[in-house]
Amino acid sequence: MKKLIIGNFKMNTKPSEFKTYAMALVTKTKGAKNKVVVCPPFTHLAVAKEILSGSKIEFGAQNISDEEKGALTGEISASMIKDLGTNYVILGHSERRTKFKESDKLINKKIKTALANGLKVVLCLGENLQTRTAKQQYNFVRKQLDDNLKGIYENELESVVIAYEPVWAIGTGKTPTSKDIEKMIETIRKEISYLYSEKAGKNVSVVYGGSVNLNNYKKILSNDHVDGVLIGGACLDVDGFAVICRENY
Ligand code: PGA
Repeated sequence: MKKLIIGNFKMNTKPSEFKTYAMALVTKTKGAKNKVVVCPPFTHLAVAKEILSGSKIEFGAQNISDEEKGALTGEISASMIKDLGTNYVILGHSERRTKFKESDKLINKKIKTALANGLKVVLCLGENLQTRTAKQQYNFVRKQLDDNLKGIYENELESVVIAYEPVWAIGTGKTPTSKDIEKMIETIRKEISYLYSEKAGKNVSVVYGGSVNLNNYKKILSNDHVDGVLIGGACLDVDGFAVICRENY
């Protein structure tokens, strides 16, 4: 089965380092069946275009402004990254939600802006430890879906990948059990079915993220419920990331 492997560089590497990385990744993933998307910082996107055009690897950004243009010092718009050949954008990542206080309403607006500009969205959601301890994770994720997808049309869901990323698993080395991942992915599909249609619930892509690494990727990706993975820390090592990209599931 073909899976989606997404690398989230976060604020790591310099453009020159990324160039070396991208060239190596192209070589090391030749013939790989899985779909590979790398999401480096904005400053690397021109390099991504230069190196990855003509390869099967696509690239994405990690954020965009909710506005199209204007007096917004320091912001980057969807059309700017699209102009560089960017196909994806990660939105709603927990680091943006917590550190940068991004609300569900803002994330919803960013998703609409991204879709209007022809970008595919990787929408991250997931509960923190407190919510999980209170056994509220399913309600919490359902509400995130309701709020984040408000006003998004069913046909636009083709361009949305849902990334279930429990906050307590990000960068901690901890992961939920396979059963837990399955249960949450089922919950997500059910909620999409409720919000749109059964077909939409069945067809939407749902990936898992949070401490995916060389030791656990096989177990996570061989799970039929999981359409792919979003990898942070472990994607920075090109050899290891390429191994995950090349695997057949
Ligand atoms: P991690 O990060 O793989 O380092 O846990 C995942 C993410 O934040 O997208």
